[in-house]
Parts: sequence; C-alpha cells; structure tokens
Amino acid sequence: MANNMTTRKILVTSALPYANGSIHLGHLVEYIQTDIWVRFQKMRGHQVAYVCADDAHGSAIMLRAEKEGITAEQLIDNVRAEHSADFADFLVAFDNFYSTHSPENKALSEQIYSTLKANNYIATRPVTQYFDPEKQMFLADRFIKGTCPRCGAQDQYGDNCEKCSATYDATELKNPYSTISGTVPVLKESMHFFFKLPLFENMLKTWTRSGTLQDSVANKLAEWLDAGLHEWDISRDAPYFGFEIPGESNKYFYVWLDAPIGYMASFKNFCSRHPDFDFESFWDKNSNAEVYHFIGKDIVNFHALFWPAMLEGAGYRKPTALNVHGYLTVNGSKMSKSRGTFIKARTYLNHLQPEYLRYYYASKLTRSVDDLDLSLEDFIQKVNSDLVGKVINIASRCAGFIARGNNSRLTANSPLPELWQTFQDTIPTIAEAYESLDFAKAMREIMALADQANAWIAEQAPWALNKQADKQAAVQTICSFAINLFRLLVLTLKPVLPALAAKAEVYLNIEPLAWSDYVTFLADHQLNDFTPLMTRIEAEQVAAMKEDSKKDLKAETAPKGNGELVKDPLAPTIDYEAFAAVDMRIAKIIKAQQVAGADKLLQLTLDIGDEQRNVFAGIKSAYPDPSLLEGRLTVMIANLKPRKMKFGLSEGMVIAAGPGGQEIYLLSPDSGAIPGQRVN
Ligand code: 2FM
Ligand code: ZN
Repeated sequence: MANNMTTRKILVTSALPYANGSIHLGHLVEYIQTDIWVRFQKMRGHQVAYVCADDAHGSAIMLRAEKEGITAEQLIDNVRAEHSADFADFLVAFDNFYSTHSPENKALSEQIYSTLKANNYIATRPVTQYFDPEKQMFLADRFIKGTCPRCGAQDQYGDNCEKCSATYDATELKNPYSTISGTVPVLKESMHFFFKLPLFENMLKTWTRSGTLQDSVANKLAEWLDAGLHEWDISRDAPYFGFEIPGESNKYFYVWLDAPIGYMASFKNFCSRHPDFDFESFWDKNSNAEVYHFIGKDIVNFHALFWPAMLEGAGYRKPTALNVHGYLTVNGSKMSKSRGTFIKARTYLNHLQPEYLRYYYASKLTRSVDDLDLSLEDFIQKVNSDLVGKVINIASRCAGFIARGNNSRLTANSPLPELWQTFQDTIPTIAEAYESLDFAKAMREIMALADQANAWIAEQAPWALNKQADKQAAVQTICSFAINLFRLLVLTLKPVLPALAAKAEVYLNIEPLAWSDYVTFLADHQLNDFTPLMTRIEAEQVAAMKEDSKKDLKAETAPKGNGELVKDPLAPTIDYEAFAAVDMRIAKIIKAQQVAGADKLLQLTLDIGDEQRNVFAGIKSAYPDPSLLEGRLTVMIANLKPRKMKFGLSEGMVIAAGPGGQEIYLLSPDSGAIPGQRVN
C-alpha cells in the first residue's frame, strides 16, 4: 500500500449498472462502499477520480427498448437520467457518470481489440447456436426455454434447471422455444471471434496472488485457473445493440468486452475536462497511479480473468486491486418483492434520508465477501441510537449553553482534559480502518469515542452547574470542549455522512474539514446559530417505504425486456370505494385499424351506449388482421383520464392480458351483454 505522506494518484470505479433497470438498495451497498472510500481518500488530500457509467449495450437493452417502442438510445438516455438522480440523492459523488455507448468507449474498444488482434490474441471459428427464425436473431441462453433434459421440469432456461440444478447446453433442452417470439428455434452456424485467454494463464496465476484480491477471492480464482481456462467468445451477431467489430460486417463486440473498457472511457472523458488528470499516466504500463475496481462477487471472473488479460494483451497496466463485496439481504432473506423488501433507491428516498442508510451500511461493511444484512428493525435502532442519540446529542446538549452564556463563542484555550488525547490517539486507527475498507471497525471506534464524550459531559453535568451563578465560566469551558469533541466526531464520520458534515461545518463556522484537521482545537472561535442536524427515524417511515415497494411491483412486472413470462403478484387490497370509482363498461368495437408508425398499437373505436370512444390499445401482435375485431364486445375503463399519445388522444383503456412481452388478448363478455352497461 502506498504511504500516506505523499500524494497518491488514485482511480476508483464501481461496477457499471445495466441501463435497463432501476437502482435498488442491493446495488447501493457497492456505490456507498466505494463513495465512502473515495471521500476518505479525498479528505486525506490524495488526487482521486471516481468514475462510473451506465452499461448500455447488449440484447436485453435492445429488446426492452423495442418493447417500449423507443430506440435503444432513448432508453439508455432515460435510464441514465434516472440513475444519475438516484446516485446524486444518495450522495454518491462520482467525478464522472458516463455511458458505455460513447465515442471514447468506441475508440478505446476498437483500439484494444485491434491491438489484441495484431498481437495474435484473437481466434475465429464457426459456432452453431439456436436462432429464432421469426425474430431473425441468435438466442442467448436466457432467451431459450424448454423441458429440463434431466428431471423433465418445464419452462427451464437454456443453461440450467431451477428445479434440479442441472447445467446443460441449450441444445439439450427438450421442446425448446424462444422466449422472445415463442417459436421453435433452429440451429444455425455463424463465425465468432474469441479472445485467447489461455495464453495468459501464467500471468493470471501471478497477478491473482500478488495482493490484488481478498484471500477468499484469490482461492476461488485458483480453482478456476487450475481447472484450465477457455477461449472467450467476444462477438455477437446482428441484430445487437453495441459497437460493430472493425473490419467485419454484422458482428458486434459482446457487451462484456466493452463494459470494463467503459471504466477507462469514462475516465478519459473526465480527463478531457480536467487537465490535472492525465489519462496516459494512469493507464500506462509503467504507471505509478493506483486503479481500484469495486465489484460484487458475481462478476469476479470478468474482472479477475478477462479484464487483466485484455489489458496485458493490449499493453496497458493492470488494476492495483479489486475490492469484492457480497450481496444484500433484507431482514435475513433475499430481497423480496411481495414482502416489500425489494426496495428501489427512489422509493427509499421518498421516505428516508440517504445518510441513515449510508451509516447503516458503513457499520456493517468489512473487507469480507460475506453477504450484508439490512435488518430494518436494527436499522432504525442503530441509526437513532448512534447518530441521533450519541453524536448529534453532544452538539444539541451543549450548543444552547454556549449560545445563551457566551453568544455562541467558544472559550479561549484552557488545559485540555485527557479525553482529547484519547481522541488524538484513536483517530489514526480510524483512518487505518477506512483505508483497509473495515468501515465496521471505523464506526465502532467512532461510537466508542462518542460514548466517552457523552460520559465525560454527564460527569461534568453542565446543566447542574448552570444553575449556579458563579459557575458560568466552567459551563462555557465544558461545553466548548464538548463542541470540539463533536467536531472530531463529525470529521471522522464525514466520508459516511457528507451532508451532516456540511451542516455541522456551517454551525461550527469552519472551512470544509480535511482529515489532517483533527489535530487542531477550536478556541476563542465564533459559532453560528445551531439548527437541528438530523432527526430520528420513525418506524412508520420504514413501514410506508415497504408498502410503497409492494406497489412498485406493478410497474416492475410489466412485460420484461426479455419477453419472459411474468406472473404479477397480487396488489395490495383496496376498499370498495376505490373499486367503485373505476367505471367499467361493456364496449362494442365498431372499428379496429392499424396505426401508422406504431409497432404495438391498434386504434379502436368503441361504442359505449351513449357515446363513442377512441382508444389506442397495445394488442396488435395478437391481432394481425384488426378488422376481425370489429363487432366484438369487450370491457373498457371509461373514466380513465384521457391520455395524449403521439398518435392522438386515447380516451380510456380496454381490458386485455397475455403472457408478458408477447401477445396481449382482449377479454370479452358473453354475447348477451349490452354496450354501455356498467360492469362493476
Ligand atoms: O453485472 C452488471 O451489472 C454489469 N453491468 C457490470 C459491468 S461492470 C464493468 F465491467 F463494466
Ligand atoms: Zn431439471
């Protein structure tokens, strides 16, 4: 580890989130962990860039955009805006949050690939794979389902069976079908490009054992390396959303080829706006800068095998280390949508302050790759007792005395109690804990200091002295010292609680705290007015967040991008009034027609007795010949607020259902029903 006396040059990344889903509390373990470490390094005065990007390529994103009727570019732009806002509101302060679909990433991916090719690290050979004849595309394993060749379970994915855990080749599935179109796939051959990973075996054996990985991760890697490496398929056939392979037609880089290059590309883009950071000097083979990737344990193979080998093969430096973490469980189990514990970043933010979660995660994070549990009861208890009860309490107890007795001016220097030295001796230990990613230890040490501070104040009992007229000076000295202890607690918590620290800095009337400021003592110093710094978490806020998370399900379970069959879980109960407020009517389809430029919509003219309604319905794929719908009865929601669409005004909705992502079928009443009759 580089020493702290000199300025280190550090590039830090968190894994790039896919651009087709929302950030949830599981993702945030990593972003919060990384952000805390970065803020700590910046407080230490090092030159740090923290970059990330949306992982924008791949067939899942292409198909999801198609389903939503927008271009892939529109989809990734929308998602990037959402992700950026979520991260900013969780105080995850990237120096750059970019996209892998960028000119820098294209240029770097092409350059790295061309160098690998020139160095003879690329092989080509034909591969036979399942192909969807209707959709005219090759199918990745997750887009193929069929009957398990071992236990006979139906609807199992193309690579493994969820029932009996068998792993197999997609071609071994019985009765395979494409989850995109439902058709039976055919086998088809095409040329693929491979990265010759086995040539890097010796380098990887050394690299993975050179302090770059936690021991348990290095052991896992050793198993893989001993089992032997395979060439890695880095190409995909059109249609695909990604970068075309230079010199080939209809061949694209596999998303996992350009994703880690996205780290470099985001940094390059950052450097173009920050001349004090030099791209080459960070990525050069002989660079003295440090590069760290924070990742989850599920993507270790990409970062500890393919990525260092690609960098080596293309003449770049390799990462200094990977920091691998485990998964998040909530209340001891996997996050569950129906239990309301699959919590999106935004849903959390609608109810709770980001710093509560930052502190809770910090109090649990170590260097281990074990899973981390968010116990919601413990979360409330810990945040309230540690932050509000111990830390903030010191300031709120003492601020009033100084405001009233000394116009918010701290007293001049006086002999410092022993506790000052205890703080001075402990803070370097806290720094070591941050440095080594043992945030749990750092938080324990900080809270132990807070306990001692509170015990000291209780012993001095300024509130009792305050009742004696001749003890005013003593009260001021005690409270001034306590405020100085508070300042040190804020300083040590600043990487975790940057917003709290900013508010405290305003109250303390000081410049933003750097780590080295811990040695100074504020004496004869004017404070600003004290304003409440943090409030307690109420159990009701957490309960409301869980309820809202259950509601989020609805949106989540709309047809998924991969066309997979999705079962909607039951929605929360509603009362009769809510039900009766929905005006459902029998409607007769008098006209049904195609909509120019719309992939999924049909335009329906509906007769509901006294009036006609124009409705756009996403049912086109089930009714290739819309005229056959004319004369048919269905049910519509007649009092839905009209919606302005690109193609015109939609005045209500018809009731339809289907297997997610595929055909959606109209529901019909029996023929005796009369148009305009109320259904509910
Ligand atoms: O697993 C994932 O969510 C990927 N999108 C992570 C990519 S990290 C990097 F290599 F780009
Ligand atoms: Zn099986």
